[in-house]
Amino acid sequence: MSRLWIVILVGVVAYGLAAWAHAADTDNSPTPEQYQQYAEAHTGDAARGRTLFFSERLPCTMCHNIGQPGEVGPNLAGVGLRRNREQLIAKLLHPSGDVTSGYRRVRIALKYGGLVNGLLRAETPTAIQVRSDDGTTWIPRSDVATVVQLPGTPMPDDVYDGLSTREFADLIAFLSSQRS
Ligand code: HEC
Repeated sequence: MSRLWIVILVGVVAYGLAAWAHAADTDNSPTPEQYQQYAEAHTGDAARGRTLFFSERLPCTMCHNIGQPGEVGPNLAGVGLRRNREQLIAKLLHPSGDVTSGYRRVRIALKYGGLVNGLLRAETPTAIQVRSDDGTTWIPRSDVATVVQLPGTPMPDDVYDGLSTREFADLIAFLSSQRS
């Protein structure tokens, strides 16, 4: 290898290292572990959390309502009864982990051909209710060949982006206080 090439190579490696160190230095948004640890150790302030939830800094109200049914996500009015603090923290940091019943993604194969992809809303002994792009429909079980559960949730996994750890704890306090 010629000397010039060695100089270029060393230069490129050094530049890469510097850029990497700089990125590591300036990106000080908390990691999921830091949010979790802070919110486990601090109760947070529910009133500040409420203001955050309804503010434009967070996308929550695009999908959720408190009191009336949300268009996309569940009504969060009683969420503090359904999930304890630990579960609320986990839900925000890893939304696809514990998907709320009524919102699980399924793929249904019909006996006479055809597939329906959507959210499994309800089940009875004789029928399955699915919400898909075409709307919400009941499918008689007698028409169903197979139901496959799919991973994931419509809830995005970066909803806490831009929050400080303290604000995250406030949001958890607000959700936890929803007990009606
Ligand atoms: C793009 C739509 C969308 C956005 C934005 C969104 N969510 Fe969700 N969320 C959902 C859906 C759909 C579910 C139900 C499926 C599931 O459990 O993952 C859900 C479930 C939840 C649950 C569990 C509800 C229960 O009844 O157990 C909580 C808590 C929650 N979201 C909080 C939030 C908060 C707080 C924000 C804002 C920081 C937010 N979500 C933003 C769509 C959304």
